[in-house]
Amino acid sequence: MSQASASADVPSMGRRQFMNLILGGSAAVTTLGAAGPFLAYFVPPSRGGTGGGVAAKDALGNDVIASKFLADHQAGDRVLAQGLKGDPTYIVVTDNKEIASYGLNAVCTHLGCVVPWNVAENKFMCPCHGSQYNAEGKVVRGPAPLSLALAHATVSDDVVQFSTWTETDFRTNEAPWWA
Ligand code: FES
Repeated sequence: MSQASASADVPSMGRRQFMNLILGGSAAVTTLGAAGPFLAYFVPPSRGGTGGGVAAKDALGNDVIASKFLADHQAGDRVLAQGLKGDPTYIVVTDNKEIASYGLNAVCTHLGCVVPWNVAENKFMCPCHGSQYNAEGKVVRGPAPLSLALAHATVSDDVVQFSTWTETDFRTNEAPWWA
C-alpha cells in the first residue's frame, strides 16, 4: 500500500519539476526577447551591406561573385538568385554586359508561382495561369494584377547585393506596391 502511495507520488513530483522547467523556460524566453534588440546592437552589419542589403546567393547558398557571374553569363540574361527574405530574385545582365541596377522578384503577383524567363519570347511567362511580364518585369498579360517587385541590385566588394526598392517603380511611374 505504502509502496503504491510512494509510486503515486512520483508522477506528481515529475509534473512539478516539469512545470518548474516550463516556467523557468518561459522566463528565459521573456528575458531573451527583451534583450533581443539590445543584443542586436552588437551584431556587425552584413558584409558590404548597403542600407540593409543582403548578398545575393546562388543555388548552393554561396554569395554571387559579380566578376565570375559576368564571365559566365551573356548580355540580356536573367538569372535566378536568392534575394531579400529568401525570395527568388532575378539578376539582370544589361546589353552592356553589366549587372543591372535592379533585380526582379520572381514570385508571380497572381498566386505566387516562380516565373521562368523565356529567352525566345523575351518575356517572363508564368506556367501556372499564363501571366506574362516583359523583360523588365512589367506585367503585360493577366491574370497577374501587378508587375514583378523590384529590388536594388548593387555590387560591393565584388559581391552582388540586393536591397529594398522603396522609390517610384520606373516601369509604371507609380509608388511601389510591395513597399
Ligand atoms: Fe502566375 Fe497564376 S500564379 S499566373
